[in-house]
Amino acid sequence: MKRRILFVDDEPNVLDGLRRMLRAERIRWDMHFAESADEALREVCETDVDAIVSDVDMPGMDGLTLLQKIRGTDRTRDIPVIILTGRNDSGLKRRALDLGASDLLNKPVDSQDLVARLRSAIRLKEHQDRLKDQNAVLERQVDERTAELVDSRLNIIWRLGKAAEYRDEETGNHIVRVGCYSRVLARALRKDRDFVETIFLASPLHDIGKIGIPDNILLKQGPLTLEERGIMQRHCAIGADILCGDARPGIAILSQNPDRSPASVKPADNAMMKMAASIAMTHHERWNGTGYPAGLSGEAIPLESRIVALADVYDALCSERPYKPPFTEARVMELMNEEAGRHFDPLVFGAFERSLEEFRSIRADLSDVALCHLPQECAT
Ligand SMILES: [Fe+2]
Ligand SMILES: [Fe+2]
Repeated sequence: MKRRILFVDDEPNVLDGLRRMLRAERIRWDMHFAESADEALREVCETDVDAIVSDVDMPGMDGLTLLQKIRGTDRTRDIPVIILTGRNDSGLKRRALDLGASDLLNKPVDSQDLVARLRSAIRLKEHQDRLKDQNAVLERQVDERTAELVDSRLNIIWRLGKAAEYRDEETGNHIVRVGCYSRVLARALRKDRDFVETIFLASPLHDIGKIGIPDNILLKQGPLTLEERGIMQRHCAIGADILCGDARPGIAILSQNPDRSPASVKPADNAMMKMAASIAMTHHERWNGTGYPAGLSGEAIPLESRIVALADVYDALCSERPYKPPFTEARVMELMNEEAGRHFDPLVFGAFERSLEEFRSIRADLSDVALCHLPQECAT
C-alpha cells in the first residue's frame, strides 16, 4: 500500500521543486501538497496521512503551530513530522524538537537526504502502528479473560449458595433474588459501586453454613428444642468459617500448581469473601438486639447484614415454603412494616419503601416457576 505524504510550504516554487525532486518515489508514496498550514491541518484531520514535511515560516499559521496541533490530537499525534527550515537558528530547532518534530532539515534540501529521512520516519511509524495493533489485541484478550473469570466466579458463588439451599426448604431462585434485592437496597442507600457489586455477589452465600447442620435438625418438621435451636444457629459461624476461615487447604491446593504462588491465597484480604463472611455471621441479628448469634443491635450490625436481613425476610414472606403459602403483597407489606425499627434498620426499611417497584419486577422476573438461572440484567 502506498504511503501518503503531505508536503506543506507557502511557496508554490518550493512545492514544485519537491514534486520534481521526488518524482521517482511516486511508485511507493502518494504525495500531496498544501500551500498553507490551515490547508494541511484540514487534510490531516480528514484523511490518513503517514508523514508530513513542513516549512516553518508561513503566513497565518506557521509550521511549529501546525506541529503543535498535530501532536495535541489523539488521532494525529504519532504522525512523523519533518521540519524544513531556511534559518540556521538553533533556538528554533530546539523548539521544534521540544514540540515533537521527528527530524529537521535545512533548506535548500538535499533530495537523497530527504528521502532517507522520510523512509526512516515512515518505518518507525509502521513499527509503532504494529505495536499499537498488538497492544489492542492483547488488551482485547485480557478483557475477554477477565470477563471469563468474572463469569466463572459468579457461577461458582451461585452454585455454592445453591448447594446450601438444596439442604433446606429455600429452593428455586431465592438466593438470586436476595442478591438482586440487596443490590437494589445498597443503591438506594447511595453506597458506592464497589459495595453494590460486592453485596450482590456476597449475599447469596448468607446460608452457606447450613451445609454443616445435621439433617435431623435442618429438616425437622415442627418446632426445634432449645438445644436443637442452638445447633441450628451455628450455621452463622460455620458459614463465616467456610468463607473466611483457615486458608491452609487453599494454599495446599495451590502448592500443587507450579504456576501460582501460595501467597496469592489470602481469603481474609478478599473484599467479597470478607463481606460474605460478615453476612453469613450476622444476617440473623436484629436491629433491636433480639437476633442471634451475638445479640448485636443497631449499627453494631454490619450494614451489609442489615440489608440482607431485610431482603431475606421479604423473599421468605413472598415465597411458598413447606409450612406456608406465599403471602399476598398486602400481607407482606403489613408484616414488613411491623418489623421496621424492630428486626429491620429504619434506614434500610426506608430504602426498601423507595424501591418497591424494583422489588416487584425482580420478584416477577425471577419467580420460582421461571427457569432457575442468573439473568443477564442481574449479572451485570
Ligand atoms: Fe440463615
Ligand atoms: Fe435465605
